[in-house]
Amino acid sequence: MDSFRIHGPARLAGAVRAGGAKNAALPALAASLLAGAPLEIEDAPRVRDLETMRRLLDHLGVASRWEGSRLHLGPGGAASPDDAPYELVKTMRASVLVLGPLTARRGHARVSLPGGCAIGVRPIDQHLAGLEALGAKVTLAHGYVEARAERLIGTRFRFAVPTVTGTENLLMAASLARGVTVLENCAREPEVEDLARLLVTMGARIEGAGGDSIRIEGVDSLGGGRHRVIPDRIEGGTYLIGAALTGGDVTLTEAQPVALLPLLEALTGCGAEVTRGENWVRVTRAGDLSSRDVVTAPYPGFPTDLQAQYVALMTQARGVATVIETVFENRMQHVAELARMGADIRLDGRTARIHGPTRLSGASVMATDLRASACLVLAGLAAEGETVVDRIYHLDRGYEAMENRLVALGARVERVRRPD
Ligand code: EPU
Repeated sequence: MDSFRIHGPARLAGAVRAGGAKNAALPALAASLLAGAPLEIEDAPRVRDLETMRRLLDHLGVASRWEGSRLHLGPGGAASPDDAPYELVKTMRASVLVLGPLTARRGHARVSLPGGCAIGVRPIDQHLAGLEALGAKVTLAHGYVEARAERLIGTRFRFAVPTVTGTENLLMAASLARGVTVLENCAREPEVEDLARLLVTMGARIEGAGGDSIRIEGVDSLGGGRHRVIPDRIEGGTYLIGAALTGGDVTLTEAQPVALLPLLEALTGCGAEVTRGENWVRVTRAGDLSSRDVVTAPYPGFPTDLQAQYVALMTQARGVATVIETVFENRMQHVAELARMGADIRLDGRTARIHGPTRLSGASVMATDLRASACLVLAGLAAEGETVVDRIYHLDRGYEAMENRLVALGARVERVRRPD
């Protein structure tokens, strides 16, 4: 298991480009199950979750190969059952994204129930209720969900909670349904909108993605096409928080600043300077940081995927910052590790009160999930001395070569390789 050794304190300065968004690329890959012709996904990030999805697709009869950062997908692969086994699904919840496309295209899907994960229980009841509304017969047995439908039929369905992958699953399923589907209370994340753009390229008829209500007119078949995924706002946001945290000066290039607005407002509010153009953002900080409260919420609220990194930032801010996690019930595991580095944080359920500023000192810490790992790496940059962040495989699920990007920004970070 690899770890990162970080020598702090560092000051991040320079330009950095985020890769394509992991959470846009994953549904884009799943959409290949709907494609009647080859699909090319451009700017796909070289992260572990994508490799897991490629393995799953291979198992389902879709072969893929890299050409630089472009992924070619087409028929092939090992076999083509309609079955997503536990061994693959357990390592990545986003595997559930194959459920909608398989049911719509092949009339049958058998997908292992993802179960809980480090950040919470994460049910998929809304995915299932939506598929049932589209006419699928859904059964649960032996830890698997099985969905059957000769042809899905357009419907009106209202999500009880806005769910990102749930909206994506139904968007893909409804694209091949007979008739019109209207989805309400949809997730409005840019990644959902990006998937809709890809599906439209493939021949789907979709209106309203990115908003609360999406209308899909089903078609008989979909083709292939070429699609460039949007830049990763969470990866980019992590480096911008790093700039504010280390009193640095970082410009994020080839970005979509609008998708980062909730973070940029928070950064301005706590004393960083933010300037932006159409496709770049620069964050600098010369003076002291002051605390600013944050409550996570579905888009366009403050993203839960940047909450842990923001908590690291608040350890260096004057005053008491209250950070409330409303999306997942167990996403504060970084707090205990930050405390080992000297942070003063009182945790009450999903609410963290961060008293700052505190002097952080390097320590050996353990990553528990993807974004918690990013938080600990950032804290290591701000800390005095050596920090070792263990279990960096969590980080590799969603950040492409983070150590190289940080080194290019002036940090001292090295990957310590240890055979598993
Ligand atoms: N929920 C339900 N029922 C459902 C689905 C969701 O109650 O059927 C609840 C969840 O338990 C949670 C809330 O709804 O409390 C929102 O969950 P959502 O379904 O939107 O999350 P997700 O689709 O499983 C995606 C991202 C996550 C990100 C969340 C929230 C992908 C592949 N994953 O997960 O990304 O945190 O949306 O924005 O898109 C990450 O990248 O680190 C990550 C965890």
